Amino acid sequence: MRLALLGCGTVGSEVVRLLHEQSADLAARIGAPLEIAGIAVRRVGRDRGDLPVDPALFTTDPLGLIKRDDVDVVVEVVGGIEPARGWLVEALRAGKSVVTANKALLAEDGAALHDAAAEGGADLYYEASVAGAIPLLRPLRDSLHGDRINRVTGIVNGTTNFILSAMDATGAGFAEALEEATELGYAEADPTADVEGFDAAAKAAILASLAFHTRVTAADVHREGITEVTAADVASARAMGCTIKLLCIAARGADAEGRETVSVRVHPAMIPLTHPLASVGDAFNAVFVEAEAAGQLMFYGRGAGGAPTASAVLGDVVAVARNRLAGARAASESAYADLAVRPMGEALTRYHISLDVADRPGVLEAVAGVFARHEVSIATVRQGPAGGGPAGRGSDAELVIVTHVAPDAALAATVRELRGLDIVGSVTSVLRVEGGQ
Ligand code: NDP
Ligand code: HSE
Repeated sequence: MRLALLGCGTVGSEVVRLLHEQSADLAARIGAPLEIAGIAVRRVGRDRGDLPVDPALFTTDPLGLIKRDDVDVVVEVVGGIEPARGWLVEALRAGKSVVTANKALLAEDGAALHDAAAEGGADLYYEASVAGAIPLLRPLRDSLHGDRINRVTGIVNGTTNFILSAMDATGAGFAEALEEATELGYAEADPTADVEGFDAAAKAAILASLAFHTRVTAADVHREGITEVTAADVASARAMGCTIKLLCIAARGADAEGRETVSVRVHPAMIPLTHPLASVGDAFNAVFVEAEAAGQLMFYGRGAGGAPTASAVLGDVVAVARNRLAGARAASESAYADLAVRPMGEALTRYHISLDVADRPGVLEAVAGVFARHEVSIATVRQGPAGGGPAGRGSDAELVIVTHVAPDAALAATVRELRGLDIVGSVTSVLRVEGGQ
């Protein structure tokens, strides 16, 4: 079994190392030796330390490598949309099995890859693209195929989970926690993809596609990052027995006509400390799946890093290599349900709203009236001195209101109207609440 490796960076170099260290076991598990036919990189002359590989295998010609007759399996760990899409479409159409960790490409144009795989009769595996080492996509794609998944809620970005966990543990602000994440090597020099939620949104699209048998792209995912989360938000969450996490949520629902739909979103949210995802700290990932017959399932582990991600890549390599030796192919993409993706405004959620108001008769009634006009039901109200200062300091008060479940558009319109009331000094924090009753 001959393998073309595209990319030899953080993940690719660990793939090479594991292929070398485990070669005898891998050969026994597959039923044939696994050899590297070539490694495509950008810079052949780059210092790759003591990587256990023949330097003659390196090339800057990925397409030439893919097209070689002796290549059976293509492993892509370069990343990005192009030229990776062109390479993988070429490989799949030529009937070569593909293993990729490229979440950005799968979320942007997974259809091109699945169509090419069907055309070439080839396997397309991508376990490493979501939640690194955690076996998650194959359980969704195989083990749970007899069940009906209703909801997937996940922490799928390690960098932001590290930042939010640090803010929760130390009371630090976002900028300070990001600095620590950068110093420790969790956050990249340009952290935009992580902190603005793009990385999590790509993973949400891949999860939703598999869970609901529907093609969902990154463009279908409502996305908000964590840059606006403040130390005060985190303290407010704590006061309610909650913590703040960047969640990806993919859920079934129905539109106004009762037709089944899905909603897919990524945003920071408060979750109760009793929720299984609340205890997922540091840079770990976890995904909570709710299925009709199986009930609640939780998948937990390392979502990034060279070796953990390479573990998922090699698991896929063994699977596709076995299939090739058996002359078989895994089940192709399942997108038969073709459910419509609902806009964020129709997603059902709850809000936690903090606002500074004038402390005088009739204020509570006016505030409650805004909620009533938008048909948003209030679950709890807490009043204290404004800005958390000493009681009786002045004439202002802080109101903290938590709602029952309502369409996101109604909740957003409520907040907009509250901001316009002259009795409201400022709306100091708005966060969604998930995972409660
Ligand atoms: P790196 O940036 O560390 O490595 C990229 C590799 O691709 C390098 O070897 C680089 O060559 C090579 N490369 C870049 N452009 C080209 C090109 N045009 N032609 C040929 N080779 C090229 O990336 P990672 O290993 O971190 O990530 C790889 C993939 O894995 C991405 O899709 C990423 O999203 C995904 N992933 C990464 C995780 C992680 O923890 N790092 C976790 C989960 C998924 P050279 O060495 O010469 O620079
Ligand atoms: N930047 C990602 C994270 C890497 O922080 O989880 C894995 O996709």
